Amino acid sequence: MPAFAPVSSLPLFDDRVLADPYPFYDALRRTGAAVHLDQYGVWAVAGHADLAAVLKMPDVFGSEGGVALTALANQKLVAGTVFASDGARHADLRRVLSKQFSQRAMMALAGRITARAERLVRQYTATGRFDALALARHMVCDTVMELMGLPDADRDVLLSGTAATFDVFGPHNDRYQQALPLASRMVGTLHEKVTRKNVPAESWMGAIFDAVDAGQIDEADAIPLASAYAAASIDTTVLGLADCLVQLAQHPQQWQIMRRDPDRWATPAFHEALRREAPIQGVGRLLTQAADVGGVHLDAGEQVWLLYGSAGRDPRRWGDNADGYDIRRLHTDRHLAFGGGPHLCAGILLAELQAQAVLRALASRCSHLTVDGEPARVLNNLLRGYSSAPIAVEHSPRTSSSAARTAETCQQGPVT
Ligand code: HEM
Repeated sequence: MPAFAPVSSLPLFDDRVLADPYPFYDALRRTGAAVHLDQYGVWAVAGHADLAAVLKMPDVFGSEGGVALTALANQKLVAGTVFASDGARHADLRRVLSKQFSQRAMMALAGRITARAERLVRQYTATGRFDALALARHMVCDTVMELMGLPDADRDVLLSGTAATFDVFGPHNDRYQQALPLASRMVGTLHEKVTRKNVPAESWMGAIFDAVDAGQIDEADAIPLASAYAAASIDTTVLGLADCLVQLAQHPQQWQIMRRDPDRWATPAFHEALRREAPIQGVGRLLTQAADVGGVHLDAGEQVWLLYGSAGRDPRRWGDNADGYDIRRLHTDRHLAFGGGPHLCAGILLAELQAQAVLRALASRCSHLTVDGEPARVLNNLLRGYSSAPIAVEHSPRTSSSAARTAETCQQGPVT
């Protein structure tokens, strides 16, 4: 490391930082384009433009051997998975389920997702009070279990393993230690329970076994690929969707805009929540050769930590109200909460589809949402969001007079 390089002793993964990382991200962005985090031996990249530039150079900033912070995770636990591979191997793994995540597949799925959202929203809002996390979790888990083709009996094992998988990407702290057995139990359960015979042919698992049979991937890749898709698809969407509901409950005018025209505003409402509060706050890359990040020289073999959570709050990209929630923000979907480059999230359309369905169903049943108690935070090495978030609702299907009142509200000045 050059003697004049920007450094920081920030304990990025300590509880107090995880609880509110934004002032610390701000300090990192002011310190340099890349800042050496002495405690972890990695370079934090915290600005939107610098992070976007890194993602455009996957040959220089590789995922193989560098997505996680411990050697054990990089060399054993996540090695060879779709997250942690580059080049041709990554493309081979990524191709296996590309059809399942296409626009066409989403169109075929839309009716089922909408019906599920309507049923769950009716059920959860019936008493006038619900936990946004419980609703989002129920919605996403039902969707993923069905699409993966997994038996419901193993749901709890799988679900405790998916959040743990993200802790395993972090440093060697208590969270990491506690997560290891949970993440291994999830992979073990998949190995034990999932066979060609007991998964539906049209499920993600069915497609993975087809790819093995066609020689596209090895048999040994099948379960790690399934684990990666299970881990990637659940907590991310649950936390992002629940945070979106909390934001809408905290910003009544924004809720009214969304409610008036969910076809137009549900997607921006979801993306604005993801920009502001990225469910995956950070992930690593390994330099395959020396490189420059915004004028800071980094050597081959060094590791960078891409702070997606910070990029979404960068005022140089999002303006002075980067911390605010405004669903009418221009190009709010151009955030980096889904990553970028070859590792761009594979499930964007599926996440959007579920969020749209839940927001539409809520819009058609509830005139008002209010936060009804202090939301509690998840503390995870990578993930950010709530573990519970009570919301109260007022029921009233949209009527012409309420739509007119909403239109009036929407014409009143800027939204905060
Ligand atoms: C709001 C929801 C979601 C968020 C915020 C999110 C975020 C991300 C991010 C940041 C990455 C890139 C990691 C990196 O840079 O190395 C990623 C990758 C990935 N995501 Fe998502 N994700 C979401 C939902 C989903 C869903 C529903 C699926 C469906 C299976 C999914 C599947 C994947 C996969 C397979 C990858 C790895 C792609 C690769 O390495 O090529 N994600 N996601």
